[in-house]
Parts: sequence; structure tokens; C-alpha cells
Amino acid sequence: GYTVRLARSGHDLHVLPGETILAACLRNNLDVAYSCEQGVCGACEIRVLKGRVNHRDALHQPGTERDVMMICCSEPADASILELDL
Ligand code: FES
Repeated sequence: GYTVRLARSGHDLHVLPGETILAACLRNNLDVAYSCEQGVCGACEIRVLKGRVNHRDALHQPGTERDVMMICCSEPADASILELDL
């Protein structure tokens, strides 16, 4: 697993092995929007304030930079802590 920093609430979210960031949010009763849970609808989009993301959603254009991520399927790209606008 890994830890994600939630900048707005000031919490550290612990994401368990095999869990998505979205699932970890729901497990912690955080009020997050979502729908498809498969990286196709964009409902779970969250702004990334710090860190690099391995984008696994179907909406992402490979090779482009963006400051958002779909938390239902994407994950940190390295060991540095992701900071989300959440
Ligand atoms: Fe649809 Fe994440 S819930 S892209």
C-alpha cells in the first residue's frame, strides 16, 4: 500500500495493497464523486497538487501532462507522496 496526502482536509489516506484511492476514500467515509469505477466517465477526477501519477484511465492522452487524476484507477507513479486537492 501507500499513503496519499489530502491537502484540503489535512488527512493522510492509507491505501491498502490492491485497493484504489477511491476505495480508500469510501472506506474512510470521505465524500467523493464517482460513477463507472473503470476510468471511462471522469466523475472521480481530482486535482493533483504534488507528485507524479501513473494514469490508467481511458480519458488520458499518453504523453500529455495534466494536473488531474481519476482516483478510481490511477495511482502514484513513484514512491513520493501524492498530494490531492481533496
Ligand atoms: Fe468513472 Fe473514475 S469513476 S473515471
